[in-house]
Amino acid sequence: MGWIPDELAYAGEENRDPAHAARYDHKMDSEAKSELAEMLTLGIGKESTVVDLGAGTGQFALEAASAVKRVVAVDVSEVMLSRLRAKLKGSGAGNVECVLAGFLTYEHRGDPADLVYSRFALHHLPDFWQAIAIDRISRMLRPGGIFRLWDVVYSFDPPEADGVLEAWMAGAGADVEGDWLRSEFEDHIRDENSTYTWLLEPMLEIGGLKILSAHFSGDRVLARYVCVKA
Ligand SMILES: C[S@@+](CC[C@H](N)C(=O)[O-])C[C@H]1O[C@@H](n2cnc3c(N)ncnc32)[C@H](O)[C@@H]1O
Repeated sequence: MGWIPDELAYAGEENRDPAHAARYDHKMDSEAKSELAEMLTLGIGKESTVVDLGAGTGQFALEAASAVKRVVAVDVSEVMLSRLRAKLKGSGAGNVECVLAGFLTYEHRGDPADLVYSRFALHHLPDFWQAIAIDRISRMLRPGGIFRLWDVVYSFDPPEADGVLEAWMAGAGADVEGDWLRSEFEDHIRDENSTYTWLLEPMLEIGGLKILSAHFSGDRVLARYVCVKA
């Protein structure tokens, strides 16, 4: 279809950069252990099918592999996914499939997903497409299935933007190998599509995903949601 956007073009220069992919796990701790522990309390377990959308280097996908039946790690960037493929070789995890696709193109096959997991990826799409992606996520879940979304989502109002975002950027580091630089925060705000909680939440509800819990970081730039498919 000619009107579906090129998701890799939206995915950000860094996610097409092998140097960024190589340093990613050193820079980013995705807290996969505690994330998985929380998903297990929600009924995810040995018989579950998990789809990780925007899986990147697969920190969560690899952690989940030991606890569930099937993990599908989907990412639009071959550069990021190749890091996961390399890690899988030595891991002994035989139940992780890597799929080069995006929120708008991944076609789920097999048992419906019990959990769709997505961390720091949905914000790459503009709002119109985030709503389409959410609807697609809802369709790949079984009734009662869980959608875990953790992303850069702004829990403030437009007049507060300067103050909140400058305070966020004040936490930037100086070493690109181990820190997130101010320029990377600036790129995120300027070029990516993080939206407001008060725009995202209706998209979830309209997509048939009831919000069970929502947690917002103290700096008001991150949100973690647990949603259930009605
Ligand atoms: C910041 S990384 C997060 C990776 C992983 N989820 C984590 O938490 O460590 C963002 C990932 O989203 C992927 N991505 C961006 N746009 C996407 C899209 N439209 N569909 C699927 N993946 C996408 C990027 O290629 C990248 O691997």
